[in-house]
Amino acid sequence: MGNFKVKDHYFNKAKSENYLARSIYKLEEIDEKYKILRAGNVVVDLGYFPGSWIQYTSKVIGDTGRVIGIDIQGVNKKLSGLKNVQVYQKDIFDIQDLAQLSVSDKFDVVLSDMAPNTTGIRSLDQDRSLSLVESVFGLLPRFLKPGGNFVIKVFDSHHAQVYLKEQKNLFNEFHFLKPKSTRSVSKEFFVIGKNFKA
Ligand SMILES: C[S@@+](CC[C@H](N)C(=O)[O-])C[C@H]1O[C@@H](n2cnc3c(N)ncnc32)[C@H](O)[C@@H]1O
Repeated sequence: MGNFKVKDHYFNKAKSENYLARSIYKLEEIDEKYKILRAGNVVVDLGYFPGSWIQYTSKVIGDTGRVIGIDIQGVNKKLSGLKNVQVYQKDIFDIQDLAQLSVSDKFDVVLSDMAPNTTGIRSLDQDRSLSLVESVFGLLPRFLKPGGNFVIKVFDSHHAQVYLKEQKNLFNEFHFLKPKSTRSVSKEFFVIGKNFKA
């Protein structure tokens, strides 16, 4: 299948299944393969907008779970029917205290599909992307429970590979995956950390 066909296929599938974005199939593949989310989990989704990851997560965690989405882009009213979902319009790096998100404890799962604004200048985009990834890893001690799981989108580069190798001991399991629904020309892949060490 060519790139454009892949794009059309997942775009149309998302539309017909009433998902807010085609990115849903990336999280679904990651979760089916690595069992990241469980019923009853309390989850934070960093850069959630428009919210297909929230839709998927809301279903998997069920009535006893909660998912909190944060994005600078705003609050998507299309999610308001989901009872276990709360979304905030914020920059995630402005969160000093989890009480700002109405939670008292760290999260069972941290998800991040965030991407920086791209300039088209490859080295600059790679630097920005890596510094975003580093900042999210920096949040983990405050955000993620010991034993918790983590998924983050990364744009590949030599520096990213070096940085990620240094982080792998933070988790009992550390995996890299390029989901099938990611366009083959894309440099993005996902890092999956399971069982965060305290
Ligand atoms: C690829 S989209 C997420 C798509 C989402 N996973 C879905 O399935 O609908 C990435 C989002 O990250 C957000 N973002 C980037 N930097 C952010 C920051 N510092 N704080 C909050 N959101 C941020 C962007 O506004 C954008 O909406």
